[in-house]
Amino acid sequence: MIDIHHHLIYGVDDGAPSFEHAVQMAEVAIAEGVTHIACTPHSSDSHPYQLDTNIERMAEIQAKVEGRLELSLACDFHLNADNIQDALKNPLKYSIGGKGYLLVEFSEMAIPPQLTDALNRLQAVGYTNIITHPERNPIIVKHPQMLADWIRMGCVVQVTASSLYGRFGNSAEAFANELLDRNWIHFLATDAHNLEWRPPHLKKGYEYVANRAGEETARRLCFENPRAAYFGTKMPKQPEAIGIWDSAPIKFQEVVRSAPKRPSASSGANPAANAEKKPGIFGRLFGK
Ligand SMILES: [Fe+2]
Repeated sequence: MIDIHHHLIYGVDDGAPSFEHAVQMAEVAIAEGVTHIACTPHSSDSHPYQLDTNIERMAEIQAKVEGRLELSLACDFHLNADNIQDALKNPLKYSIGGKGYLLVEFSEMAIPPQLTDALNRLQAVGYTNIITHPERNPIIVKHPQMLADWIRMGCVVQVTASSLYGRFGNSAEAFANELLDRNWIHFLATDAHNLEWRPPHLKKGYEYVANRAGEETARRLCFENPRAAYFGTKMPKQPEAIGIWDSAPIKFQEVVRSAPKRPSASSGANPAANAEKKPGIFGRLFGK
């Protein structure tokens, strides 16, 4: 499998806290059957993108897992004004391996219509926009029409694997499952941050999708589409995204939000990944 969203670079954001921790995360990913990881440090107001440090640290981790796991640099790109301007000035700077697929994250506070224009402009300079974990954004959950509009424009969608089975609460779970049933998901990824409460588990997500939507869909979301994004090639033909062309407003089933679940003792391959460690307030509130 290929994981296109993973905070493996240590010490640059709220991802891996140390080199040793990052290597352990890489080992968990290998044990899960992951062969390639796009390393996606944040580029946000709280975590500025440190290109040189990211390159250096990724090379250190790569040297430790050479021949078993391949790494490529990307970015968890927050759609703020500075980021958008810089990405437009430096085409492909933030995309996976500089090859065009860009992971974009929307604010949970507001999504002004100008951001749709920004997506169009990014697309015009060569990026393929990957909307990251819409199921965890309360604005998008409330207005699935937005996501339909972006998919119609040519954007693709990445869901966090553990959202499908309730890690981020029942609202995210229901939304992610409805996205799956409607063929609106193109990628499953871990968005791993650490070994304890945001571990790099992709296998369980693969199995979940295989059970609910079939093996072919699981392969498309965990192998084929991620391979295209990782290597910068065209994605294979996707099944029809159900409902995105409907003239009536799109309605998803309504679910009352519940608190996110912490990982259970049986949720990981690595014992270290099962340790019950209390997430910080930022993680509990925003799951970043
Ligand atoms: Fe992320």
